[in-house]
Amino acid sequence: MTDTITIRRPDDWHVHFRDGAMLQSAVPFTARQFRRAIVMPNLVPPVTTVDAARAYRDRISMAVPDGIDFEPLMTAYLTDTIDAGELARGAEEGVFTAVKLYPAGATTNSDSGVTDLKKVTDVLECMQAVGLPLLLHGEVTDPEVDIFDREARFIEQKLIGLRADFPELKVVFEHATTKDAVDYVLSQDSHMGCTITAHHLVINRTDIFKGGIRPHLYCLPIAKREVHRQALRAAATSGDKRFFLGTDTAPHPVHEKESDCGCAGIFSAPTAMQVYTQVFDEAGALDKLEAFASINGPGFYGLAVNEGTVTLVRDVVEVPERVETAEGEIVMVFRPDAGLNWRIMA
Ligand code: DOR
Ligand code: ZN
Repeated sequence: MTDTITIRRPDDWHVHFRDGAMLQSAVPFTARQFRRAIVMPNLVPPVTTVDAARAYRDRISMAVPDGIDFEPLMTAYLTDTIDAGELARGAEEGVFTAVKLYPAGATTNSDSGVTDLKKVTDVLECMQAVGLPLLLHGEVTDPEVDIFDREARFIEQKLIGLRADFPELKVVFEHATTKDAVDYVLSQDSHMGCTITAHHLVINRTDIFKGGIRPHLYCLPIAKREVHRQALRAAATSGDKRFFLGTDTAPHPVHEKESDCGCAGIFSAPTAMQVYTQVFDEAGALDKLEAFASINGPGFYGLAVNEGTVTLVRDVVEVPERVETAEGEIVMVFRPDAGLNWRIMA
């Protein structure tokens, strides 16, 4: 049995840091585990300009603990009316690494998202031309569509057409939750990437109701049936270049999760690498962890892989249940029910 594993320093290709006090608490957890992270722009108001992204990047950098070398990679929030020139300038000036598309109303702070892909045709053309990747929240928003079918419908109704119209546009299918998404990505060329969260590798939809309703396991896209979780595990642990690590760590104050209408999001930053390592270990695929966590992502984005390494050790670890923010609010940390048995060596 392998009891330690050393890999190149990993990156997280999908995080939510928020702002203000929450940001101060959230950033150190990601910065301790990852060398770089793609930062989601769904603030209120959303990050839609180069200046806003630059200022947000500065606030994130200020929250990184001393002595830690961490680089936030910024994204722009695609709206119906965003200016293609602003995105091109942001890419040119090294501020925007990618652009995030939320279908309007799909999830937390997505009200300003895109209402119709036709409205952003010129923007997508510009992104294709300058090589700026499009990151997709891949769910349809039609309230008539069952919540468990929204990802599969998005592929049929939106993604297939989008790829046909913009074949050279780099597209990331973010936080895939279905076998449909995995099969679709596998059918595509190297312009298509896909991130997979730690929690979707661990929980299925039944877990959300294990012993009662579990608001801290609610996120979007919602976890699906076991057959889908198995497809995600096979994809992540395959070593295939199109799949890479993106936690979608999304902190919310506990009172907003444990409420009449609890919001979507799972805070996994403190446990992310430990959980991924455990999943790869269970799959007998520790030799593929480095590809998923540290190589495939930079390969897709056309960036260099990181210098330096991180070592994980098989060990029973205690994980704090809750993390306090500077304002005293608390967020719940994602932990597999069965416990964690890998830790990051200091
Ligand atoms: O569960 C989620 N939480 N899914 C998202 O797409 C957004 C995120 C958030 O910002 O809280
Ligand atoms: Zn997200």
